[in-house]
Amino acid sequence: MTFNESGTQTASLAARYGEMSLPAAGPWNDVIAGLMQHRSVRGYKSDALPPGTLETLIAAAQSAATSSNMQTWSAVAITEPAKKATFARLSGHQGHIMQCPLFLVFLADLSRLARMGATEGKTLEGLPYFETYLVAAIDAALAAQNAVVAAESLGLSTVYIGAMRNDPEAVARELGLPEGCMAVFGLCIGYALPGHESAVKPRLGQAAVLHRERYDPTNDDTVRTTYDRAMLSFSTAHERQGYTWTERMMARVGRVSALNGRDRLADALRRLGFPLR
Ligand SMILES: Cc1cc2nc3c(=O)[nH]c(=O)nc-3n(C[C@H](O)[C@H](O)[C@H](O)COP(=O)(O)O)c2cc1C
Repeated sequence: MTFNESGTQTASLAARYGEMSLPAAGPWNDVIAGLMQHRSVRGYKSDALPPGTLETLIAAAQSAATSSNMQTWSAVAITEPAKKATFARLSGHQGHIMQCPLFLVFLADLSRLARMGATEGKTLEGLPYFETYLVAAIDAALAAQNAVVAAESLGLSTVYIGAMRNDPEAVARELGLPEGCMAVFGLCIGYALPGHESAVKPRLGQAAVLHRERYDPTNDDTVRTTYDRAMLSFSTAHERQGYTWTERMMARVGRVSALNGRDRLADALRRLGFPLR
């Protein structure tokens, strides 16, 4: 679906929030309508992307804001089937990584600044701090989301792959990453396979996430009850099993094992050249 094919404002808001949690209607345009249509897709045709698509997506990604213009991210484009198979294996055997014609790996990359410092003969005292790692991870996320929006506006589908952090050292070896460079997530890009187009997944009502002047969690439980019903109905209709948001979150953050190795991420980052001081 391209941005121009997106639905009306009320229909879009209803799909995102459900009829019971509609926010007030406000300004609207094709860009917002396109954003409202976002859905992750986990099945891809093998069709190649039109020539120049990668470069267009990277131009969109590089147009995102970046902290102090440091541009502390990079991306590796993976198209070779054997490499996609390796990253699928390292990401919990997610088959869509093998199917998609383009798998972009987004990197938090402090190595470019480190090389610059070496060339300039300067010690970069600020590089080892957790703050600088966070800047790089935020830069990578903002860049990637611009690429996602650009891809979706072109009728392409995407899904992020956070499971690329399950074993960041193995990923770094496969990609030949230098010190101070780590894969924050991957991104599958391609054309949705028929039957895998997916649907707009409901989100929490705005009363849970939007606070005015001061943080106020009093609406949490009411919003959650409504949202549990919406997610149960969405998952029953569109996924293999029905579940509420509460059930899913309790499983996702209730056990260390659900982190799939990412509980060791801080140690892995230190070994990859991020001291996180
Ligand atoms: C940083 C990040 C990592 C993610 N990792 C995965 C992943 O490894 N596998 C997957 O199938 N989906 C992954 N997702 C997709 C989320 O599950 C999805 O965005 C969420 O369920 C909301 O659904 P929607 O994108 O269709 O609205 C990830 C999303 C983000 C933002």
